[in-house]
Formats: sequence, C-alpha cells, structure tokens
Amino acid sequence: MSGNRHPEAARRYHDATAHSPQSVRAGSRGLDWDTKPEPFKIYPGLPVVALPRDFAVPALDALAAISTEPAGAAPLDLDRLAALLFFSAGVTKRRSYPGGGTMYFRAAPSTGALYQTEAYVVAGDVAGLPPGVYHFSPGDFALRRLREGDFRGALAIAAADDDLAGQSATLILSAIYWRNTWKYQARGYRHLFWDSGSMLSHLLAAATALDLPARAVTGFVDLEVNGLLGLDAEKEGALLLAPVGGQGRPAPVSPVIAAITPEVIPLGSSEVDYPLLRDAYENSSLDGESEVQAWREASWPRRSPAGALVALPTPRPSGVRTLAETITARGSTRRFSGEAIGSGDLSAALWHATRGWLADVPSGLVDLYLTVHAVDGMEPGAYAYHPESHALDLIKRGDFRERSAFLCLDQSLGGMSSATVFFLADLDALLEEFGNRGYRLANLEAGLIGGRLYLAAYALRFGATGLTFYDRDVVDFFSPHALGKDAIFVTALGRSVKGPAQSPASLQISPR
Ligand SMILES: Cc1cc2nc3c(=O)[nH]c(=O)nc-3n(C[C@H](O)[C@H](O)[C@H](O)COP(=O)(O)O)c2cc1C
Repeated sequence: MSGNRHPEAARRYHDATAHSPQSVRAGSRGLDWDTKPEPFKIYPGLPVVALPRDFAVPALDALAAISTEPAGAAPLDLDRLAALLFFSAGVTKRRSYPGGGTMYFRAAPSTGALYQTEAYVVAGDVAGLPPGVYHFSPGDFALRRLREGDFRGALAIAAADDDLAGQSATLILSAIYWRNTWKYQARGYRHLFWDSGSMLSHLLAAATALDLPARAVTGFVDLEVNGLLGLDAEKEGALLLAPVGGQGRPAPVSPVIAAITPEVIPLGSSEVDYPLLRDAYENSSLDGESEVQAWREASWPRRSPAGALVALPTPRPSGVRTLAETITARGSTRRFSGEAIGSGDLSAALWHATRGWLADVPSGLVDLYLTVHAVDGMEPGAYAYHPESHALDLIKRGDFRERSAFLCLDQSLGGMSSATVFFLADLDALLEEFGNRGYRLANLEAGLIGGRLYLAAYALRFGATGLTFYDRDVVDFFSPHALGKDAIFVTALGRSVKGPAQSPASLQISPR
C-alpha cells in the first residue's frame, strides 16, 4: 500500500511551502540565468510524425465550449488530434527580444512562462496515425514515437478503467520538475497542478469544440504510467490522463512493456533536486489497480450556503469570440486599468468557469472567494461565490484594492483588477477523504477553473492573470467565513492596458 493514506505528508508539504511576507523576504534570491532550463523536451533519436498544420479550425463559441461537456461523436483522426494538441499545448505566439532570444508562448498559461507541462499520446485507433506511444513536441509541431504498438490495454490496467482500452487515444500530461523549480523551488509542486489544470481546461474545451468525447482520469498507478512513457521518475512525473474519442476498435492484448530509456537532450548545464517536491509526488502515488479503485470511491459532499445571497445576472450563453479566436488572443494581463467590467461579464465568467468537469472524481473541491473592486452595479467588497445557486454571499463591504494587491504577494495586478478570485479549500477534509492525492486534486481543479476564467475573460474581451499569494493572510482576510480552509490559487480579472505596471495607490482610492 502506498503512503497516500497518510495525508500528513501533503499537509507538511503545503505548510512548508506557504508564502508569507517574511518567508518571501528571507527566501528571495536572484535567478541563475545560466542554468535556465530549455523550454522543449528534445528526443534526438526518435522517429518523427509531423502533425498537419492546416487542420480544420473549430467554430464553436468559447463560452459554450468551456461549459459544455465534451461528449461529441466525431471520430478522432490526425487532423483533430493536431487541433486538440495545438489549442491545449501548442506554441501560439513567438516574441523576439532585442538582446537576442525568443520566447515561445503557448496556448495555455503557465507559471513564469516556464512550461513544465509535457503532453504524450497513447494512440490505438486514430485515423492517419499508427498505434503507438508518442511525445508531443510543440516546438516543431510533431509527434515523436516512443513505442510502436497498441498500449491502450496497459494504460487501462494502470488506470483501473476498462474504457481506456476502447477509446481512440489517451493524452497524458506530465511535468518536468526542474523547468519550474529553477525559479520557484519546492513551491513548484503546486504549480505542476495549476498549470496542467489550466491546460486541461483548454483540452476539454477544445474537445467540445471539435465534437470529441473527452474526460479526465486522475487516479492511476503512477509508476506504471511513468514507465510506459519511459520517464526518468526522479525528474518528471505523469499528472493526469485524458481519454479522447469514442469507443472504437478495442485494444488487443497489450504488448509487453519493456523498459525504455530514450535519449533526451539535457535541460541545461546543471539541475537542482527538490526532495520535498519528489516526496510530495511519491507520497500521493497509487501503487496498484485495487488501490486506484478504492481511491475512486471517495466522495465529496455538496454544501448548501447559509444566509442571504446576492443573485448574479443570468449568465449569457455565448461570448464574442470562438474558442479558437479566444485561445490565439489569450495572454496574461500585465497591467489592469482599474476600470469596471459589467456584472454580466463577471456573472458569465464565474458561471461558465465553474460548471463541473468530466472526471473520475467529483468536482466542487475548491471554494471561490472574491474581492470585487470595480464591477458595474455591484457593491465593492469581499464575497463568497456559490456555483450551484450562481449567487454571491457578501462577507464584508469595502474598498479592498490595496489589501488584495498585498494578498497577491504584493503584486499590483491583484488590486488593479476589477475583481480577484481567490480559491480556497477545506484541505484537511479533502486529505482525509482522498489522501495526499487530494492535494493534487485541489490544485488541479483550481488551475482548471482559473484556466476557464482566463478563457471566459478573453471570450468577452477583457483580461485575466493567474497570481500567487500569501497563504495565511488570504485565509485570515476571508475569515471567519473561511476559517479552517487553506489558500490554493488566485486569478484576477479586469480591463487590460498596455504599459508599465501601476499600483492601486495611484487610483487615489481610500487606503484599507
Ligand atoms: C497558475 C499561474 C500563476 C501565475 N502567477 C503569476 C504571478 O504571480 N504573477 C504574474 O505576474 N503572472 C503570473 N502568471 C502569469 C504567467 O506569468 C503567464 O501565464 C506566463 O508568463 C505565460 O504568458 P501568457 O499567459 O501571456 O501566455 C501566472 C499564470 C498561471 C497560469
């Protein structure tokens, strides 16, 4: 039996990596640019399958795409697979800098633009693609074949889910730790799930737009999935599976899974190991099929809010951009103007972002709290959001721009926004129910909803950015309502402007 059932490991990790003004001051150090990891995983010796770049671009509205279950009926072919990978993990923007160097920005946002999330495909019944296990290379938009043959059966066993053996393909998202820990050290473990969660929001929305069934599978035997992909488990770990496509040709008996150690170009001149992160991964791993099955039995109660709620306007069903337009237009806001968004905009973003997600675990694991700074028709203050009733609970009135900027690690973006969404979770209860793996789930779901908030914002032509935060101060700010919870993640929403960052004080608002 794995250590997953002893959730004090996740609690220890979370507390050890909490930010406070003191810990950030004490831990601040410059970045060593000489050791910055390469942004692409390069296998020099593997056979290459070029992906078509002229795939048909789906025309579905973005808001509809993020909140509609991907349950379509189209067959998965190479064209659709290419579109799915592009809109989830592809390079959507290149920016060259005066001193040399090019940044490759991707479809989904990523902490520090470090892009540690890698995508793999276990294909069995994809028209135009021979069965095999492939790595997706965003840099040259190609697949590289790690294994030849149909390994869906092996994956179905590792995930204790027979349906995987019949679905056309399963995408696997992993993370290369050093790409993120280079900047964020051990706190990077949280980022693995925020960022793969954001990517999952793209993947599920793109599947809906492409008329493909898709879902997330979060329970699997980590060691077996990592082995199937030939990962160096000290450095990279699988985070989630996403079966895609309908039930097609069933998988034959899986070939023997021989160990593979494909050559990979090193990420850089040196790498630092963060045992705290590796322990957090290992202590939340599942060791066998029966453990996966038992873990999946865990449940999560829906809690009804008490007290008077402020109703939000009926959310509009569609935005002004298609999903494809939204993803290519998306970028993280670097400066908010401080101007208001409409209450209809906030309503649509919250509603579409918080519809459930198709997965092997329940949704609704994280709770959304907001500071509302400038939303037409809404009183500025701190609120709790209730997705089932699509209504807000006013916790306290006031102008919290300054406080919100402070809570977001003293970043003005958190206060110059129109509204900032703070994700909190009843972490102890989650860990009690799901073991240490519950920590992965809370961060993943927050990343997924954050990713959807980004998409909703850009679909409605305003801006968004993910933010980090001072853990304890966030909980204290929303308490007593949030008493006993933990801070998980933050997304700020508002009107973007180009130019240098501004501070909330420059808006001449009253101090807190
Ligand atoms: C989970 C998450 C957390 C982030 N945290 C911050 C942050 O604390 N401060 C910040 O300025 N940007 C933050 N960002 C924005 C990233 O820096 C941005 O996504 C990345 O540079 C890629 O650029 P793009 O989103 O414009 O494509 C965050 C993004 C994500 C997805």
